[in-house]
Amino acid sequence: MAIAQRFSLPGCQMSLLNVHDYRMAAKKRLPRGMFEYIDRGTEDEVLLRDIRHALDAVKVNQSVLNDVSAIDTSVTVFGRRQAIPVIVAPTAVAGLVWHDGEVQVARAAKAMDIPFCVATQSMTAMEEIADRAAGADLWFQLYVFEDRDLTYDLLRRARELGIKNLLLTADTARSPKKEWNTRNGFGIPITPTVTGAVDILSHPRWLTSVLLRYVLTTGVPTYAHYPPEYRTKITRASVWDNVKLARRLTWDDVADIRRRWEGNLVVKGVLTKSDSERALAAGAEGIVVSCHGGRNLDSARVTIDVLPEIVDAVGNRMTVLADSGIRRGSDVVKYMAAGASAVLVGRATLYGAAVAGERGALGVLRILSQEIENCMAWAGRTNMDDVTRGLVRVWPNDRGSEADSACP
Ligand SMILES: Cc1cc2nc3c(=O)[nH]c(=O)nc-3n(C[C@H](O)[C@H](O)[C@H](O)COP(=O)(O)O)c2cc1C
Repeated sequence: MAIAQRFSLPGCQMSLLNVHDYRMAAKKRLPRGMFEYIDRGTEDEVLLRDIRHALDAVKVNQSVLNDVSAIDTSVTVFGRRQAIPVIVAPTAVAGLVWHDGEVQVARAAKAMDIPFCVATQSMTAMEEIADRAAGADLWFQLYVFEDRDLTYDLLRRARELGIKNLLLTADTARSPKKEWNTRNGFGIPITPTVTGAVDILSHPRWLTSVLLRYVLTTGVPTYAHYPPEYRTKITRASVWDNVKLARRLTWDDVADIRRRWEGNLVVKGVLTKSDSERALAAGAEGIVVSCHGGRNLDSARVTIDVLPEIVDAVGNRMTVLADSGIRRGSDVVKYMAAGASAVLVGRATLYGAAVAGERGALGVLRILSQEIENCMAWAGRTNMDDVTRGLVRVWPNDRGSEADSACP
């Protein structure tokens, strides 16, 4: 099979045929604390399970004997045509899964002709990513700091780089409770703990190819967009209050950022119809309907359940993106059928990058692309405009009627 890739991993040879294979390979390669930071949810991880169950409960209406010899998976998002309806989601610390992880994943996104969203909490600065992944379509994700001037400076830098799409993350009202990360000793900036040190020493490949490589070149990795004082333990305290994520963040701030940002403004983390309408009223061009991959409020509703009503409310007036839990191309098709204009993928490309940098992230994106196409073929749809709500059956007796599901 063309998309299968064979990588040598210490002690095993495995064919990486799907996102789950990459996840298992990433688990072997990364220190446990690092892997858990990426992979797990918060508190009791109820939402993580709910996301999977909800996506699995959505069924695709199969349609046979259609001419599906040519399938076009491309979509247009904010005026730019892209090969598949996927955007690489902003993920803090992507630079730790592989040396220069953010640059590597941005290059994979470019090779796949899709956007890559740089995170505020990235290990590599946006300018360097733009330089070393030249030609990649970069978006920027903004966390608003307590110190608004530091926040506005990030906006200025993004604007000067020619970034056109800004994702304002709105769903991190508090630092999520990741008890397992407290236990396994992982944190950013990396600080020495006995548990963390034992964990790292028992993953020598990661230690030498990622951590030591940073230490010997650019120093201990930390958040590249934070002020330089944040990088050393001694001076960190002096800027800590300034770079804490703003606790008092309201729709007035969205309107304020709207005034300061000429490009497209997208509010990330919307889960209700009323908040989608408030985002529209604040002047946003888009929203990401997102339950943050199960990493914030553990008792939140899942994206796929709320997406249709939000699309019905604002979908013809703004761009509605969606994310959380995408591990198969069919998950992408389900979100698209529910009305998303495109989806964001977080962990999947991180697993890929953890296994083989750019090559691994690209491997994952190719697998998703192939699976999207396969799923569309079985559903008898040859382009994304035809991936409509009638394609799926969500809940018993719901919208996906037999008549709706007939092919165009
Ligand atoms: C390791 C990791 C770090 C993340 N960091 C951020 C972040 O800094 N800002 C943000 O808006 N979302 C962040 N997210 C959430 C993603 O943007 C996205 O909403 C989520 O990962 C989608 O779910 P998925 O991982 O199941 O695809 C992070 C996700 C992961 C896995």
